[in-house]
Amino acid sequence: MAVLLTGGDGYLGWPTALRLARRFPSERIVYVDNLARRRWVTECGSVSALPIPAPADRLAAARSLGYRNLSFIEGDLLEPGLVYRILSVHRPRVIVHLAAQPSAPYSEINGAAASFTQHNNNEATRRLLWGIRELGLTETRLVETTTTGIYGAPEYPIPEGFMEVERGGRRDRIPHPGMASSWYHMSKAHDAANLYLANRQWGLSISELRTGIVYGAETAETGEDPALGTRFDFDFYFGVVVNRFCAQALSDHPLTVYGLGAQRKPLIALEDAVESLARAAARPPDGAYEIFNQATSLVSIRDLAEGVSEAAKACGISVEVNQVPNPRREKEQHLMEMENTAFLQELLGGPPQGLLETLRATIARLSPHRRIVEAHLDRFLSGLPAVKNPGNPAVTS
Ligand SMILES: NC(=O)c1ccc[n+]([C@@H]2O[C@H](COP(=O)([O-])OP(=O)(O)OC[C@H]3O[C@@H](n4cnc5c(N)ncnc54)[C@H](O)[C@@H]3O)[C@@H](O)[C@H]2O)c1
Repeated sequence: MAVLLTGGDGYLGWPTALRLARRFPSERIVYVDNLARRRWVTECGSVSALPIPAPADRLAAARSLGYRNLSFIEGDLLEPGLVYRILSVHRPRVIVHLAAQPSAPYSEINGAAASFTQHNNNEATRRLLWGIRELGLTETRLVETTTTGIYGAPEYPIPEGFMEVERGGRRDRIPHPGMASSWYHMSKAHDAANLYLANRQWGLSISELRTGIVYGAETAETGEDPALGTRFDFDFYFGVVVNRFCAQALSDHPLTVYGLGAQRKPLIALEDAVESLARAAARPPDGAYEIFNQATSLVSIRDLAEGVSEAAKACGISVEVNQVPNPRREKEQHLMEMENTAFLQELLGGPPQGLLETLRATIARLSPHRRIVEAHLDRFLSGLPAVKNPGNPAVTS
């Protein structure tokens, strides 16, 4: 039996590969990645704050530490025939699909970047769906991390995927519309629509995890040895707000809250994200399309900055919180309310990681690498010169 993991070299992908290897020791965990995330961050003039080994060294280190059922395929899911070949050879029991260009600001650099992001993300998912279909893998479950950003910022409590609508005195249950507010997030709304279509047309078993902002530097497995660490980005394009704040605190840079910072955001610690993915990968096929809001807390950006400042204090660092003009178009006071009962009950498997404890642990984990962050302080800021030919030189605006 095999588990296929796409995007297994990424921030979330690598710790997920390790967790899957431990959770399913009698199965082969095949992870595929084209290493694009490494290139994109370099292109943006930045670097992972936690040094990560070259792909072959990373795999060798994991194997020598007991993760013997891991295999790596370096390849682009958009390379003609690759997805079909991988699926036909391994006939995976489950596919955990994480490969994507995941940055909203990167997708908005210019038309080429928006086009690249949507093409890359949507084409990869279509190939997986059609590969499953054409090879008759009816027992294969597809698990994908889309994003809570699909919902946009409506003025009502956000449901967990589906909503009841009433028109003309009649009712139906439909997926919440995709009202995403970036070209990246919209790529995931398009994916969600195609996942639902594949389920209705062919009865595929699909678990869509609408992932909140993932933060933190460590999981149980990455903490076993420095060679097992995952990447940690802090730059304007690829550093998610929580991780960026932790890196800013470490380098005595004021925490930059965009605008009022009153809008609440859904968060999930890396450990919880990885655990819930492993649990989703254990679910037997059932022909259903299920959506989970993969988030454990809703925190305003301002409260988050205060939390990071408090966590930094516990590590002996004092840091200011500064408001800066918001480079994003967003509802700065949006009271995000979001249901996540199914996620907590069916996938999380226990109490979530504490926010403050995780922030403290993250700052402590980064601490020996402080100089890497300090050497790239200008990368925190927006307004960097536009990257030429983002993502794929073949795509132009
Ligand atoms: N990290 C978060 O806060 C967050 C939040 C919501 C959703 N997600 C989603 O979770 C997934 C993982 O996110 P992440 O933060 O680990 O991102 P990441 O960029 O670190 O990981 C994605 C990986 O996919 C690879 N990849 C991209 N396109 C590929 C292709 N065509 N062929 C092969 N490999 C390809 C990249 O090289 C990268 O290693 C993504 O789908 C992302 O959209 C992440």
